Formats: sequence, C-alpha cells, structure tokens
Amino acid sequence: MSQPILQAKNLSKKFGGLRAVGDVTFEVEPFGVTSIIGPNGAGKTTLFNLLSGLYIPDEGQLFVRGEDITRLDPVGRLNRGLARSFQITNLFFDLTVEQNLLLASQKLDSWSKLFYPANQSPLAIARAQELIDEFDLGEKVHELAGALSHGEQRRLEIAVTMALRPQILLLDEPTQGMSQVDTHETSQLISQLGQSVTILLIEHDVELVMDLSKQVIVMAQGEKIAQGNPEEVRSNPVVQTAYFGDAV
Ligand SMILES: Nc1ncnc2c1ncn2[C@@H]1O[C@H](COP(=O)(O)OP(=O)(O)OP(=O)(O)O)[C@@H](O)[C@H]1O
Ligand SMILES: [Mg+2]
Repeated sequence: MSQPILQAKNLSKKFGGLRAVGDVTFEVEPFGVTSIIGPNGAGKTTLFNLLSGLYIPDEGQLFVRGEDITRLDPVGRLNRGLARSFQITNLFFDLTVEQNLLLASQKLDSWSKLFYPANQSPLAIARAQELIDEFDLGEKVHELAGALSHGEQRRLEIAVTMALRPQILLLDEPTQGMSQVDTHETSQLISQLGQSVTILLIEHDVELVMDLSKQVIVMAQGEKIAQGNPEEVRSNPVVQTAYFGDAV
C-alpha cells in the first residue's frame, strides 16, 4: 500500500444541535477517483468544506502527505496542493475562456507580479496554453465563458481549478443539471484527470460513481457507514438499507 495522500481522523462538525459530520475517518491513496455518496443531507458537502478549509472541524484532524493541515485556511491548503473546484458562478462569464485561464494561471507568478496584467506574464501565458490543450478548449479560447454550454463551462471551471497544479481535487456534484452527453463527457474528463491527480468526488449518479471510482465512501446522517471498492460497497447490506433502498 502506498502512503495516503489524504487522511481524515475522527472529523466532526456541528451546526447548533445538528451533527452534520460525526467522527468520520478515512484515508485516500494517491491518484484515481474516491467518491463520496449518500442521501441528501448526509453531510457530504460539509465534509468537503472541512477538507477545503472553509470550516474548521470541532473535533478531529486532517493530514496531507502526513502533514497536519487541520488549522490551515483554504489558501494554505491550496499551497499544499489541495484544491476545490469553484462553483460555475466563480467563472468570469463576461471574459473569454483564454482570459479566465490567464487570470487563474497568473497566481503561479510571484506575488509582486500579481500587479501586472495577466496577459503579460510569460508563466501565466504558458500555463493557460497547456490548459487549453489539456482540456481541449482550443476552439473556444475567444468565446465568452458565459456563452459556453453547461458541460463546457464545467470543463473550463475544472481547468481553472487545475491552473495551480493541485495534487488533490475536490469535485462536488460536477454533473449536476447536465445533459446525458455533457455528463458522459465530464465523467471521461474526471477519469482522465484521475491518472495524474487524486480526485474526491461527490456524486448522486450511482452508475457513474461505480464506473469511475476505485474507492467509495458512503455517508448517512453525518457518519461514514461504509467504505470499499464499488463492488464491496454495492453488496454491503448496511449500504443497501441506508442508501439504495429497494433499488438494488
Ligand atoms: N451552514 C450550515 N448551517 C446549518 N446547517 C447546515 C449547514 N450546512 C449544512 N447544514 C446541515 O447539515 C446537514 C448536512 O448537510 P450537507 O449539505 O453536508 O449534506 P449533503 O450530503 O451535501 O446533502 P446534498 O446531497 O443534499 O447536497 C444537513 O442537515 C444540512 O441541513
Ligand atoms: Mg451537498
């Protein structure tokens, strides 16, 4: 077994009297897709908020490559390679695809250069071009982000998140509201990304999860109720009762 890239130990987070995440422990090995599934309100997004640093846990610890990051803010976590996909609304809709990528890539330059326009930073220009190629956005570079299809916007959004070359990527329901074609495209993109990055994916489409994931974590009522490869999870009686209901 390789060393885990991410470890969560006994994470808990309460909102008032509600325990949104309770005593959740898991490890993620490098690369591939680990999915987090569970019914609405199971605590999946809250768990992501704990991982990304939006919330600090009431209890428990988080480690990236063995380093304790429990108290780090989102920027500190980003600097350690942990990135969360921004919501689509965080794209600049009235800028072009290329401009969005340049702006995201500009952060690769030292802080002093942040005051220069993105289109003058050689580092940003080079990284934006890499992303255009990698994410197959060549035909769209001069289109406004707001004019792209839902699937293309998600592709651009993931490209923007990848600008700083994170090693761990958190994706919360990336196919939500998408057509079948866009869902298929996005799932292929995630699978491909998983070859070079460690991906944590929250997703309601169980078939997609079973297809993509090397590991599945199942949550219900704030707790982790199961973890394993897709087959193990699917055949777990506790999961069938809590999540699949009569569907499986
Ligand atoms: N900021 C908050 N303040 C108060 N309660 C919250 C907050 N965020 C989440 N909750 C509650 O915590 C519980 C877990 O919510 P969470 O959004 O993590 O679930 P989820 O598994 O992502 O659900 P969904 O599948 O619907 O996205 C829910 O009962 C929710 O109402
Ligand atoms: Mg959620």
